[in-house]
Amino acid sequence: MRVVDLRIEDVAFGGKGVARAQGKAVFVPYTIEGELVSAEIVREKKQFAEAEPVEVKQSSPNRVAPQCPYFGRCGGCAYQHIDYQHQLAIKWRQVRDALQRIGKLKDVPMLPIIPSPRQYAYRNRITVHAQDGTIGFFRRDSHQLIDVQRCPISRDEVNRALSELREQKHVRDGHYALRTTSEPRVFSQVNDEVAQALRDLIIDLVPPNQDLLVDAYCGAGFFAKALLDKFERVIGIDWDRFAIAAAKENATEKETYIAGDVEHELTANLTALSRQVSERKESDLREMTLVVDPPATGLSANVRKAIVDLAPTTLIYVSCDPPTLARDLRDLDDQFTIDSVTPLDMFPQTAEIEVVVHLRTKSPPATR
Ligand SMILES: C[S@@+](CC[C@H](N)C(=O)[O-])C[C@H]1O[C@@H](n2cnc3c(N)ncnc32)[C@H](O)[C@@H]1O
Repeated sequence: MRVVDLRIEDVAFGGKGVARAQGKAVFVPYTIEGELVSAEIVREKKQFAEAEPVEVKQSSPNRVAPQCPYFGRCGGCAYQHIDYQHQLAIKWRQVRDALQRIGKLKDVPMLPIIPSPRQYAYRNRITVHAQDGTIGFFRRDSHQLIDVQRCPISRDEVNRALSELREQKHVRDGHYALRTTSEPRVFSQVNDEVAQALRDLIIDLVPPNQDLLVDAYCGAGFFAKALLDKFERVIGIDWDRFAIAAAKENATEKETYIAGDVEHELTANLTALSRQVSERKESDLREMTLVVDPPATGLSANVRKAIVDLAPTTLIYVSCDPPTLARDLRDLDDQFTIDSVTPLDMFPQTAEIEVVVHLRTKSPPATR
């Protein structure tokens, strides 16, 4: 395939630099906007092309030396060649651009991105794969394994667990979850310090003295438990039965955890539940907060509709995928006002971004 010179104009969500050649977007990994690179076109599609960098001819002042010997081959990190402040700026911009372009939102009330105190050695768990004696991560864009001795974005304890696994005589083929000893076995946030900042941010955003909190996609109740003091009643929903069992373990009387599909529970059962609460109080259910923290696929159309029908006074959307977040906010725009959008850097050196959006209902619901 041919090698071309390209001027990188932007870094797209996912981590690749974007250039234009003959009117077509060309994606080049491991590049930074402003750089002039020569790159080999490796895939040519109708709308865009993909290229691999061959040489950086004019490099960005934000370019730094990666700390990991596997960087560029391993599928995990995308930004080790970019200084940390600039990684933050890129991620902030990508969130704003997704909300404007996909979400069609005009004035996005963006707040500054919350950085990670640790730029390396932050991951409290990893999953490595073993096959035919090779233990490590998948090569970028492939299912081929690279043998990995150490992962610099993981905590020392996790790397010790990796060394111990590698020292074993016969490691069976399969997947191995390696974690710090404090980590529970159900879903948990991977970066402890940023998870704490995320929790604190949500505590700040949710007003006190409310009737009902619904924590949808609650896992083991990370947000529900942090917000207990502000509510009379708390309901968590997750379809992972182990996570729900963990949430129930130390639950107080006001907490209810439901093992079920959010889509079903929000549409079928929640209306009944919230009615029960309001009947008990002999008044209308006044203040309700809904926290949603879905997987990268975002909210289904039915969940979006259920949220509009439910019209919670406060809606907190925690997202790990700006494009699906933008799609969902577009649908919620009629019913809710966006108060603030706060990106968090839960995953330094990688292309992933966490975002918290604070929304308020525009009008009180007709009936509940
Ligand atoms: C990003 S995690 C959030 C977990 C939790 N909020 C936390 O911070 O620990 C997403 C969670 O959604 C759950 N989940 C995904 N799809 C679901 C669905 N349709 N119904 C219920 N739970 C779902 C997963 O089991 C997982 O625990």
